[in-house]
Amino acid sequence: MKDEKVTRSRRALLYMPGDNWKMITKSITLGVDSICMDMEDGAAVNKKAEARATIAKALRELDFGASEKLARINSVGSGWEKDDIEAVLPHKPDGIVIPKVESYDHVEWAGRIIEDAELKNGWGVNSIRVLIGVETAKGILNLKEIAAHPRLDAVIFGGEDFAASIGATRTKDAVELLYARQAVVVACAAYDLQAIDIVAIDYRDLEALKAEAEQGARLGFSGKQVIHPNQVRVTQEAFTPSAEAIAHARRIVESFESSQKEGKGAYSLDGKMIDMPLLRNAQKVLARARAAERLVASRKLEGETRS
Ligand code: COA
Ligand code: MG
Repeated sequence: MKDEKVTRSRRALLYMPGDNWKMITKSITLGVDSICMDMEDGAAVNKKAEARATIAKALRELDFGASEKLARINSVGSGWEKDDIEAVLPHKPDGIVIPKVESYDHVEWAGRIIEDAELKNGWGVNSIRVLIGVETAKGILNLKEIAAHPRLDAVIFGGEDFAASIGATRTKDAVELLYARQAVVVACAAYDLQAIDIVAIDYRDLEALKAEAEQGARLGFSGKQVIHPNQVRVTQEAFTPSAEAIAHARRIVESFESSQKEGKGAYSLDGKMIDMPLLRNAQKVLARARAAERLVASRKLEGETRS
């Protein structure tokens, strides 16, 4: 299970309102890593029931190919969450996204219901993944406990909700979110989870998106939420290690092995010091590249078998 967590690539996670059949059918043509059909803020209050029924239909009828199929329920305590999860679970999504998580108990609530469904249907425990949105001041404060929940796969940081929660004004360089973004990355690294970064709501500005996605990758995020088809390619590229980065990582791994054999813990490569932390970083780059490659390969294979 642990291995599955790090190998499932989620470079871009695309939302659409769960009641929008047209957008759902479009999303499966985009080659996006994760598709998140939304019952929460993307679905209007008078569309919650329609969103539940439409997502259930999509899970039953559509072939999502190599894209991960996720359903986002309303937050625990909203009053909608139980009907949401019960409407979609029988149709076996790949994962459930719980927004605005503020405590371990919120995850536990969903985890129990999911496990019951897994046992009842003979799907195997942990076959349905759990991703959570952390996007409030309380969520960030309680991350230490929340991220330790054994069911979790990923933490998604909601920048707009968080800014509203602390009364911050959103800016282009997102300096007002830096503390919380780093808190999410650190908690995820401690518990071997994926960290998924903020949405760029100005979906026409692809230059700004590229800069923000690359910044997120540098901070340690493994992917980013997106809201429009145009954002998918730029985002997935930003979270795929470049050929140069992969080549450099490979050289570090290879040279590290030989330097260890020579009894040297630290050594020089191209005039720079290399030791254990740099090796670990290089291994992470290679793991990420392998995960992305695997997804691309399975997509190609599907394309071949479909045609
Ligand atoms: N997923 C799948 N398809 C989408 C999409 C999405 N998130 N957003 C737009 N599209 C489709 C449109 O249906 C349209 O399809 P068509 O060319 O087949 O007609 C095409 O992409 C171009 O869309 P465009 O006209 O540029 O956008 P729009 O004005 O229809 O929609 C938004 C703009 C922002 C309203 C829309 O992108 C959206 O609803 N995004 C998701 C918002 C969301 O879920 N928020 C909650 C989570 S943060
Ligand atoms: Mg949110």
